[in-house]
Amino acid sequence: MSTETQTSGDGAVGGAAETLTVTDNRTGRTYELPITDGTVRGIDLRSIKIDDDDFGLMSYDPAFMNTASCRSAITFIDGDKGILEYRGYPIEQLAEQSTYLEVAYLLVNGELPTQPQLDEWTHQITIHTFVHENVKSFMQGFRHDAHPMGMLLGSVGALSTFYPDANEISDPDNRLAQTIRLIAKMPTLAAFAFRHGNGQPYVYPDNDLAYSGNFLNMMYKMTELKYQPDPRLERALDILFILHADHEQNCSTSAVRGVGSSRVDPYSAIAAGVGALYGPLHGGANEAVLRMLRRIGTTDNVPGFIEGVKAGDERLMGFGHRVYKNYDPRARIIKSAADDVFEVTGKSALLDIATELEKIALEDDYFVSRKLYPNVDFYSGLIYEAMGLPVSMFPVMFAIGRTSGWIAQWLEMVGDKEQKIARPRQIYTGGRELDYVPIDRR
Ligand code: CMC
Repeated sequence: MSTETQTSGDGAVGGAAETLTVTDNRTGRTYELPITDGTVRGIDLRSIKIDDDDFGLMSYDPAFMNTASCRSAITFIDGDKGILEYRGYPIEQLAEQSTYLEVAYLLVNGELPTQPQLDEWTHQITIHTFVHENVKSFMQGFRHDAHPMGMLLGSVGALSTFYPDANEISDPDNRLAQTIRLIAKMPTLAAFAFRHGNGQPYVYPDNDLAYSGNFLNMMYKMTELKYQPDPRLERALDILFILHADHEQNCSTSAVRGVGSSRVDPYSAIAAGVGALYGPLHGGANEAVLRMLRRIGTTDNVPGFIEGVKAGDERLMGFGHRVYKNYDPRARIIKSAADDVFEVTGKSALLDIATELEKIALEDDYFVSRKLYPNVDFYSGLIYEAMGLPVSMFPVMFAIGRTSGWIAQWLEMVGDKEQKIARPRQIYTGGRELDYVPIDRR
């Protein structure tokens, strides 16, 4: 809560160190706003008024460039230093030593599991991988060339109709049940969408396999009685899921929180996250990277392409990040996972173009001065391509990994007493008090 002071606002107000003193030059009044955790509360600005009828000062922050929307103990990012931690654990250690399901447990529960906890968590997720047969039927109703991300968006939202009790979000046991279902069923929906595009029969989960191995099974099993995933591909996929698991208040997570703040069931909230992730500036970026590499065609065309980017004709997809202004730590890990995958699948012809683009861009003043470095999506697309995935599946892969982060953020929001329904303000710029004109007189 801000307080109005009688001083002139020369900085020596109140004696408290953790405050901000502001003078409203419209009125000459000075206010002292508390600073907590490096922030001032937007609502404190409201007491700054010209007169009693004034609504009070607001902050204007399109795209939330400098606004914290919540307190969160899930993911820490230091964009300048290139640090990413889940619940305090560095991403490098998790990618090297953990598994996706253990990371999902960590994100959701706040601490690494003991062996019995991990066993139970893994068991619960494994026995919830099947979807209702009717889900299969309505997925079959999509057009043959439906984008798999659109299918995922529709089908994850539709899960709310299969679990109508999921709207009882104040019940912790209920929340846990939906958490497990969401993490368990996302790969099944994703694989069904993939098989649909190929005109192939959907493959049921194999609960003898681990999370990523089962996903490969549902994607690629043909006539063999038992699908045996290549352990190197299985591990690379697990690493990709770990790297994509959470990234604090990004566009899709903000969508999940924003929609979830209406107290809707988590399937509907996560469907909003999938929708946000579909966009080319977010989860669609790896798809855009591959399309870009294909368009460039050969390494000879790289310098010309870079000139086009510098002229503002287009963007170098897979470069730049709202938060990382040094490097994206996930990009480094992914590059080494890519080498492991290429060992199995053979090198992608596009890798040379990507390497050349990266080399030129990292030396070019346009990119250096704007602190544009490869992000997580610059290489993930090449891995997926090598695994035989069409580009339309790339954001779907991102969504599988991000589900644990979305649900962890949703759980945190539901339990946060400070949160209310998300409802930003606006600066109205339209007309006022116009008289309605009948249509024949316009
Ligand atoms: N290629 C060329 N120029 C760029 C790029 C790029 N990829 N990214 C930013 N710039 C330029 C931009 O034109 C601007 O230049 P100027 O100052 O001369 O106007 C400057 O760099 C700052 O850019 P911005 O658009 O203000 O930065 P932002 O923080 O709003 O955008 C971004 C972040 C990720 C949307 C953007 O860098 C971008 O569009 N990158 C390509 C898409 C991409 O790879 N997205 C995946 C992000 S990582 C996965 C995820 O977490 O979603």
